[in-house]
Amino acid sequence: MSTVYLNGELIPKERALVSVDDRGFLFADGIYEVTPAYWGTFFRIERHLQRMRRGLAELRIDFDPESLVDVHRRLLAENGLEGKEAAIVYVQITRGAAPRAHAFPTTAVRPTVYGFAKEFERVPRAVWEEGFAATTVPDRRWARADIKTIGLLPNCLALQAAVEAGSTDALLVKDGVALEGAHSNFFAVLDGTVTTHPATNHVLHGITREYVLELSRELELPVEERPIQLEELARAEEAFFTGTTTEIRPMVRIDGRQVGDGLVGPVAKRLMDAYQAEVDGRTIRPHPIR
Ligand code: PDD
Repeated sequence: MSTVYLNGELIPKERALVSVDDRGFLFADGIYEVTPAYWGTFFRIERHLQRMRRGLAELRIDFDPESLVDVHRRLLAENGLEGKEAAIVYVQITRGAAPRAHAFPTTAVRPTVYGFAKEFERVPRAVWEEGFAATTVPDRRWARADIKTIGLLPNCLALQAAVEAGSTDALLVKDGVALEGAHSNFFAVLDGTVTTHPATNHVLHGITREYVLELSRELELPVEERPIQLEELARAEEAFFTGTTTEIRPMVRIDGRQVGDGLVGPVAKRLMDAYQAEVDGRTIRPHPIR
């Protein structure tokens, strides 16, 4: 039986009940975070907290996520996940429950805070080495894709379309630009340069994206943050997605067309080796929690 967190309490999941008036339920009025832990150590949790703080401020939800650091730890422990290779903690904060009206409630409303933890299976290296396939899907999201809101219907529809087309991932395209995945950021290697869309309002500012940019610089790979035209992918040497649980996922086909030579490339391999060394070797660099 899993233990979840709801509004200040750790309780059995069966007992976790949320009001039908919750604005998360009625309007998707809230944000969420997914933070990975490897061997019981959270990976860059302070960056996830920072993104939560920013999202809450953008939505004008009055809640300080600092108290959630302890909740993250307790969720891992209570669910027996501290010794597992890989796990995530999901946290969502909505504006709270109030009779349905579009404008914010005029009386004080307590945000609803929900969290759960679960193990995730990392892709075995042999499977990873085969590479994955993506399908392009029009990006039909709102203009604030940088806010990690729980309103994910366009992302779900995009991924479903990709899955039905026989792919593992959707590549969201807007105005001819390959922006990001349905739940991950997108990178291409063009003329040896590790390239990804800049952190604007059109993409989520992924924590893994930021980490992969750092790793690339450490590995002395040229890096560029700029919009990637879909047409450019025809000449890309490599392409991959990054994200929590997605980690670094190489694409060898996009819309049925081979990427580069159709094999997982050296840049993705070097980055994945470095990523793996950090998380598998239990050598996650200490990132002070604030
Ligand atoms: N998704 N872009 C989108 C649209 C995302 O939803 C995510 C994360 C990312 C990658 O961000 P990060 O590296 O910080 O995980 C990029 C989470 C994992 C999810 O929805 O489950």
